[in-house]
Amino acid sequence: MRVLLSEQQIQNRIAELADAIEPGYRDLPFTIVGVLTGSLIFVADLVRRLEVPLRIALIQASSYRGKATSAGELHIASEILADVRGRHVLLLDDILDTGQTLKHLVQHLIGQGALSVKICVLLRKQGKQVHAVDIDFVGFEIPDEFVVGYGLDFNDEYRNLPYIGVLPKEMYE
Ligand code: IMP
Ligand code: MG
Repeated sequence: MRVLLSEQQIQNRIAELADAIEPGYRDLPFTIVGVLTGSLIFVADLVRRLEVPLRIALIQASSYRGKATSAGELHIASEILADVRGRHVLLLDDILDTGQTLKHLVQHLIGQGALSVKICVLLRKQGKQVHAVDIDFVGFEIPDEFVVGYGLDFNDEYRNLPYIGVLPKEMYE
């Protein structure tokens, strides 16, 4: 698989993201909300770089991709979400593609009583966003290719790769 972002590149950028995020949350009730399953590894690495008090919560969202590489209907499973009422939320996801997932999750979290909701994505796919959503922190801008690894999957596999690679087209076409 062609490596798009190496383990070292990812770790260096996460340290920079943590430095950018920290000042805005000092002295605030701060909750990181990770979007399962893709953000799992990103959340684990980022929180260990943040030297401010915080809570970690999780929410599950899936756009029923399976072996397809374009998004389908969005399903949000929020039963596992901890109480975010009165908390400043930073929503963490692996990748911003069309924007459908994050747009709906922001509305959901505001509805749950979050005082503010900002968004941090590790990757933003260029030229793909069709849903208007403000992104506050971006790890890397990437071209429109299907990527896997470091939490990102194809048909629920490859999440465990320590780097981010481009899935060869012949594997899904
Ligand atoms: P969106 O709702 O269209 O922005 O899609 C976001 C979700 O689609 C992400 O959380 C990923 O789970 C998935 N996704 C989008 N692009 C890719 C990709 O290149 N590789 C793996 N998953 C992707
Ligand atoms: Mg995802």
